[in-house]
This record gives sequence, structure tokens and C-alpha cells, in this order.
Amino acid sequence: MTISEQIKSDPTIQSTVEQLLSRCQKIQQQITGIKPSDPALKQSYDDAIKSFSHTRGGGLFFPYLSTGAGSGPFVELADGSVKYDLTCGIGVHIMGHSHPVVMKASIEAGLEDVTMQGNLQQNLNSKVLCDKMVELAKLDGSSQLDHCFLSSSGVMAGENALKMAMQKHAPASRVLAFERCFAGRSLAFSQINDKPAFRDGLPEILNVDYVPFYDVNDPEGSTTRAADTLNTHLTRYPKKHAAMFFELIQGEGGFHVGCENFHRTLMEICKKHDVAVLVDEVQTFARTHHPYAFQEFNLGDLVDIVWIGKAAQVCATLFTSEYVPRPGLVAQTYTASSATIASSIAILNELDGNGYFGENGKTAQIHQQFVDGFDAISSRHPELLTGPYGIGAMTGCTVHGGDYAKVTHLIHNLYDKGVIAFLAGANPTRLRFLVPVGSLEPNHIKEILEILEASLIETI
Ligand SMILES: Cc1ncc(COP(=O)(O)O)c(C=O)c1O
Repeated sequence: MTISEQIKSDPTIQSTVEQLLSRCQKIQQQITGIKPSDPALKQSYDDAIKSFSHTRGGGLFFPYLSTGAGSGPFVELADGSVKYDLTCGIGVHIMGHSHPVVMKASIEAGLEDVTMQGNLQQNLNSKVLCDKMVELAKLDGSSQLDHCFLSSSGVMAGENALKMAMQKHAPASRVLAFERCFAGRSLAFSQINDKPAFRDGLPEILNVDYVPFYDVNDPEGSTTRAADTLNTHLTRYPKKHAAMFFELIQGEGGFHVGCENFHRTLMEICKKHDVAVLVDEVQTFARTHHPYAFQEFNLGDLVDIVWIGKAAQVCATLFTSEYVPRPGLVAQTYTASSATIASSIAILNELDGNGYFGENGKTAQIHQQFVDGFDAISSRHPELLTGPYGIGAMTGCTVHGGDYAKVTHLIHNLYDKGVIAFLAGANPTRLRFLVPVGSLEPNHIKEILEILEASLIETI
């Protein structure tokens, strides 16, 4: 037995871990619902927010600093308040806060060498995680994503994907992407984001040609328009495009859901022109009825490279054998900490093995409860809330007609009332919930919707 196995199987250590967990949970059980801030902590909290905003060189969107404690959908802030967290670090806490499965994995990993693991020297768990990510990617039986490379952020996983595509298709140097897309914040990816403010003052280092996204109100027309635009770009710059970026469900762009026929039509055109099909699943991973959104739309046979982040905890690029990079192209010091890698494995196993996916899975049921609630609010106040409502754990709606100022006001009002939500997209700006499906119960959803309705009326 290795020393590591001896530590993990040691009865004293095991029972101590169990005791630690149960004691933590007992204390966390005090968190049962929304709580106002503690007046005694107000001054120190306000000072901390002010000084942190200064140090990081810019104000925070919310006056949010958590203590690190939470329970399910609830998070405790350092001013003593407790709020529903439906933003979850922009999609990180998919299980909710302090989920027992995640805590157990982290505590156990904490018994190891807990520093960051890197790509040169990794622990066995990195292999376990890569295998799990590949196994999930091959569940549909059609994808050829046999390879997986871990990295430390969504944008870095995307950069690795782009480099693999560009190396294979050199000297093609242009890329294609959807209008309204968001890909991350590196210099290269700032060019791809269809948002001028995100590349303000930056040099142009990548040529990007945009294709309109799917319009749920005009499925056929929008598919034809997108295919025509794509063909026009490909004709204008023959053999110059290395890759097309597919965000199958737009996240930052406003929770717009694509469909199989739309994406398949465009992907087949890419294949015909030898353009790599790149799928950015940083936000969509683990949030639809399937582990990967490309499985939601049956696109496994067409996908060349996929990358994930957020809910996965550890970011990763998955690719087919055709895109295996030559030595030297992808490497980096960090992947993640041992605790994060262990948490990632635990979360993927929990989501995969405990009924979250599928048409009637936990995620779908939670989504339906929101949809029913949104419909009810919309029937009472059609001018205040409309669909579409997103998919799975990407639940959203259009509020106040999508007016940016009003939606921002609403989000701050919700925050004050104890619900942390976020916005997405422009024209319309939409309300988005990155739902912690691992811990949200029907009574929580009911209360959240009541608060939303009150807030909508108050912010007219
Ligand atoms: C679709 C998409 N791609 C890439 C990214 C970038 O990920 P990260 O912020 O981890 O670099 C994000 C982040 O929001 C995203 O939503």
C-alpha cells in the first residue's frame, strides 16, 4: 500500500474526517434563509469593500465579500447577511455552497500535498479527472473526443483549443464566431468577443468574421441567413479560416438557446471547407440535460475541439486525435489545486450518477419550476417579464423590456432583498440565474419568484 493509500484508508483519519464534516454541517445548519446584515459589522464591511475596490483598481458590481461559509443555495457575506446565490461566482457553485460531497472531497484532498498541481508533475487524480471528462464526452457514442488537457481558466482552455486548430490549419489565420458571442478575456479572445467595450484600447491581433446567431422566433430564416453569411465569409477569404467558434447556447450574450438544425447546418459547411469546429462550453458544461451541450443537440459527430470551465471547477480542452498538438504548443505551470481537482471529480460523479441529467432529471425539474413561476408572473404582468427562459441550469428571462438601466436597477434591488442574480446580453439585457441545481428545493424557488415579482413591481 502506498503512503497515500494508508492515509486515505486509515480508520482514525476516516472517522476524524466524518466528525469534521458532521460538525461543520451542524454549524452550517444555522443558515436557513435570507438574513439582513449585522449593524455591528456594517462599518468594517463597507470599509473592506471600499479598500478592496481601490486595491483591485475598480469597483465591484455588488458590494459582495463572502465569509466562505454557506449552505446550499445560501451564502453568508462578511457583513453577517445571508442571501440566495443564483449567480454562483458566474456559474462555479453548481452544487450550491458547502455541498457535503464537495466538502468531503476537499477535506480528504487537504490531507495530501495541497499545493497547486502543474502540467509537468501531476497527481494520479489529474488522470482520473481527464478520464472522467472524456468518458462524459463520449456518452453519446458519436464524439471522437479522446483527449483532454487540463488548464487553469476557461479562456486558457479556449486559447489551447485555438492554438491546436491554428497549428493544424496553418497558415489559415482568420476565425469565425457568432454575433453577440463571448469567449474570455485574453488579448486574442478579446478580439473574438462581439463586444467593443471588452477590447477598448487593444490592438487588433486576430481577424474575426461574424455570423448571426439562431433566432428562436425565426428558426428557418435565421438558419438560412447564418449559412449565407458563413458562405460569404468563406468565399471572400478562401482557405483563410482556421476555425469557427460555436457557443451553442449563448451565455454572456443573453441566454439564447440554439438548436440542432441550426448548428448542424453551419458545422457541416465548416467541415466542407476544412474549418475546425470549436465548441466553447465554459458556461454550458453540466447545465443542460446532458453533460455537454453538444450532446443536447446531437452534434458529437461534428465536433473537433471542446473546452469547459466554471461548473467543472478545473478547466479543460477536449480534442480528437486529428488535433493532437505537436510538442511544445500547450503547457503551463498550474492546472489546479489538489482540492479543486478532487472537488471536480466529486461534482462530475455526483451530477452523472445522481439523476441530474436527462429530460426528467433534477436539472430539468428545477428549470420547469422556474418556467412555471415566470409564466405565472408574466400572465399577471406581461409588460414586466417575458421569455424565452433559457435551458436547464441556465435560466433567464427578459425583464423590464430588456432596458439595461432598469434591469441593472432590478438586480441591485434583488440583491438588497436577498437574491443574487446577474444580467446577460444587450438589446435586450436579460436577467440570468446560473442555478445551483445541487441544492435548490421547490420552497426556495417559490420564495425567489415571490421576491422577483415584488422587485419587478418596485422597480417599474
Ligand atoms: C462562454 C464562455 N467562454 C469563456 C469564458 C471565459 O472563462 P474564464 O472567465 O474562466 O476565463 C466564459 C466566462 O464567462 C464564458 O462564459
